Amino acid sequence: MSNGEIIISVVTAVLVVFSLVVSTVIPKGDPNFPGRRNLVTFTLVCLVLVGGTLAAVEVYGAEDHVAEAAEVAGEDEPAGEPPAGESGGAEPEPGEAESPPPDEEAGEAPPPAGSGGDPVAGSEIYASAGCGSCHVLADAGSTGAIGPNLDESPPSFELVVDRVTNGAGAMPSFSGQLSAAEIDDVAAYVVAATSG
Ligand code: HEC
Repeated sequence: MSNGEIIISVVTAVLVVFSLVVSTVIPKGDPNFPGRRNLVTFTLVCLVLVGGTLAAVEVYGAEDHVAEAAEVAGEDEPAGEPPAGESGGAEPEPGEAESPPPDEEAGEAPPPAGSGGDPVAGSEIYASAGCGSCHVLADAGSTGAIGPNLDESPPSFELVVDRVTNGAGAMPSFSGQLSAAEIDDVAAYVVAATSG
């Protein structure tokens, strides 16, 4: 657990405790709470707490994204070493303070693998990865005869992703050489080049 996560947890816990106290404990003693007199103070405290939580997530949550991005981008490193996960071995503790960062963070995450791909970028990857030395693909002008002729048996997107990621028979795995996004791109290209 990084410093950032600890800070986010603490700030979130303060917000949660505050919310519980003002919604359950205080109204028992003072049913009119916050009332006219305390309304301004109450509103300010709410704004500061919510703003503080969002700011903490913005500032410290970003650290983790950078770390994750670095892991994902490490294509030049030899495969096989498991990514140093933040939860490495540590047991998730139940409780509000440990809840994951709010949803708005999800919007900034890179798109998950398998969500499409860019056929234009894929065309370059097809050439630079050397797919053409083993496969026939008219669109790329490639005439390799070691693997199946892609024009004659157009593969599905999933099949290309699987073969390029895992290899099969004489086809090598490209997972150490291409990122998941690049594999999506080359799959999108092969599908586009064979489906017309
Ligand atoms: C060293 C030669 C070689 C290279 C390089 C190679 N392949 Fe292959 N590929 C094969 C062989 C052989 C097979 C058949 C594997 C099997 O099913 O036993 C295959 C199978 C496939 C299939 C499945 C086809 C089918 O109908 O079953 C796809 C799709 C594919 N390759 C795409 C690619 C792409 C994209 C690249 C480049 C990133 C690539 N290949 C690079 C040899 C190669």
